[in-house]
Amino acid sequence: MPPSARRCLAIVLAAGEGTRMRSNRPKALHEVAGRSMLAHVLAAVTQAGAEGLALVVGPDRDDVAAAARSAATDAEIFVQSQRLGTAHAVLAARAALDRGWDDVLIAFADTPLIGPSTFLALRQALADGAAVAALGFEAARPDGYGRLIVDGQGALTAIREHRDASEAERATRLCNAGLMALSGAHALSLLTAVTPANAQKEYYLTDVVAGAHARGLATTYRLASEEEVQGVNDRVQLAAVEAVAQTRLREKAMRAGATMIAPETVFLSADTELGCDVTIEPHVVFGRGVRIADNVVIRAYSHLEGASVAAGATLGPFARLRPGADIAARAHIGNFVEIKASSIGAGAKVNHLAYIGDASVGAGVNIGAGTITCNYDGYSKYRTEIGEGAFVGTNSSLVAPVKIGAGAYIGSGSVVTEDVSPGALALGRARQVEKIGWAEEFRKEKAKK
Ligand code: UD1
Ligand code: CA
Repeated sequence: MPPSARRCLAIVLAAGEGTRMRSNRPKALHEVAGRSMLAHVLAAVTQAGAEGLALVVGPDRDDVAAAARSAATDAEIFVQSQRLGTAHAVLAARAALDRGWDDVLIAFADTPLIGPSTFLALRQALADGAAVAALGFEAARPDGYGRLIVDGQGALTAIREHRDASEAERATRLCNAGLMALSGAHALSLLTAVTPANAQKEYYLTDVVAGAHARGLATTYRLASEEEVQGVNDRVQLAAVEAVAQTRLREKAMRAGATMIAPETVFLSADTELGCDVTIEPHVVFGRGVRIADNVVIRAYSHLEGASVAAGATLGPFARLRPGADIAARAHIGNFVEIKASSIGAGAKVNHLAYIGDASVGAGVNIGAGTITCNYDGYSKYRTEIGEGAFVGTNSSLVAPVKIGAGAYIGSGSVVTEDVSPGALALGRARQVEKIGWAEEFRKEKAKK
């Protein structure tokens, strides 16, 4: 039976204290590429075919539970009230285990780079007859990790925690990545047989290997790269994991048809969507929720989040798109322009030093340099509507709520406080006065002193 035909439960452990993060935020909710580590792990096990999702959290971790439910609505939450070890944590999800599964995957919420194919390789080992499949890696510095103990035939017989290992066992660099796959038929009896007879007096998940081997069940391991299995205990490791995630996302984007001149300076989010023939110049940051269509050019030093950009538009340099910015095809958003919760119509131009907030800007509109939508009075936000083809002169203040009709002109420097009819010219500024010869008089006056 291939893994796809087998029913799989994934148990994600997140009850660790995460003290070394030195944070008020639970470790599992720290983000990598704009998505919590927990959400990365839930996505990977789901893509590896897990139908059941069980999350084990520490006491009073409603925040983690809520995040899990928003990342995966059907995740079941279990509380491990005392932190007595990884096997004890898995057994906190006993009610889920009891429902009967072919495969049980165990993952750690602080190991966010493991991809679905690695979880699937472990499931395949179960499908091939193993009762326990562990994940090993060659550690550059094995200190602190559990060691895989492999017999002369290459079979996995035990996993020994560093503190409990002999000098000879410590000599191997083949280490335990932590996560594991257990056959559903044996999982509960193997887990309940674990005792805390070790240096830390903890219930070790790793002891199920020796337990299964003693019963004559097949135990095996698969290998992953050290990069993929790296865990996060502090913020230095968080940054290391972020760097790997960014490299992966950049490569994926380039392979899918984006050009990056200096990819190492472009920062993406896990959910960034890029079309084909998108050009991204150096130093561009994509926050969460950005969708970019084909043939868009994003010039250097732009910052985008929660924005959608249609085909052929150009952004930047130094453009800022905030949540709710919706840029239509072929629009131009130029330097030092900030757009928030506004739609910019097809072919419209907002080229220099402008703030457009809570506005709808029609197709073909020209917004002059220095134009500001005054959308906030300190209490509420108000909308500005600018009809198709209107021309807003430079340095205008559009005091919302206000509507500018299609095709209208706004004279430069206007403060627009009332609606403007379609096709009209609105001037909201003091008329210019001229005093002939004034300058000469002034200079003479000054020269006397
Ligand atoms: C574990 C493995 C070790 C492996 C290492 C890889 C065991 C016994 N050891 O050790 O072989 O080399 O990972 O990083 O499994 N957790 C709970 N409740 C607990 C204890 C742990 O939820 O009572 C969770 C933690 O939040 C964490 C994960 O389990 O996500 C691993 O726990 P941790 O204490 O970091 O295990 P290690 O000692 O690193
Ligand atoms: Ca650890």
